[in-house]
Amino acid sequence: MITLIENGEDLPMHLLLLADPSERLVDQYVRRGECYVLEENRQTIGVYILLPTRPDTVEIVNVAVDPAYQGQGRGKKLVLHAIETARQQGYHTVEIGTGNSGVQQLALYQKCGFRMTSIDRDFFLRHYDEPIMENGIQVVDMVRLSLDLSQTSKEGEK
Ligand SMILES: CC(C)(COP(=O)(O)OP(=O)(O)OC[C@H]1O[C@@H](n2cnc3c(N)ncnc32)[C@H](O)[C@@H]1OP(=O)(O)O)[C@@H](O)C(=O)NCCC(=O)NCCS
Repeated sequence: MITLIENGEDLPMHLLLLADPSERLVDQYVRRGECYVLEENRQTIGVYILLPTRPDTVEIVNVAVDPAYQGQGRGKKLVLHAIETARQQGYHTVEIGTGNSGVQQLALYQKCGFRMTSIDRDFFLRHYDEPIMENGIQVVDMVRLSLDLSQTSKEGEK
């Protein structure tokens, strides 16, 4: 079950930090966005934040699944839930970003319908003090992707 965390409820910080090692940035996202959690057997095993960025545009940030439960479709379930939530809230565009090294994330987001829009070169060098490595590659550039909700419609809708 995926539900919205209401103000004051416990945030799954350990999961949020899996997707972003900066506690400062995660705190900002939590304050500005809506945090959704995936619970199974009363355990929180997945999370994402929906962050309004511009009029009509929302960004999915900090999507993460507990490592013990990864690779079984839960990441896709979270991303598709985020897209549906954005659509129901009336947004026109959903954005998502990942590091140049995020091979699995790039696969997942494109399978969910996102297209690449731009590369923010040196993003991770500008915003993080320590070097970050993933898949044996240094994370330096941000790959930005977006999904135009006016071009897609939920199955069964007009
Ligand atoms: C990214 C993350 C949320 C994915 O969650 P997950 O539960 O492991 O993902 P899923 O099991 O739903 O797999 C997602 C899809 O990616 C596909 N995929 C993964 N690696 C792939 C590859 N190398 N090539 C092709 N497809 C690939 C899977 O096949 C699956 O698609 P399918 O359902 O059509 O088969 C999870 O790995 C995670 O929490 N990572 C750490 C935090 C993080 O980096 N978050 C993203 C920040 S940008």
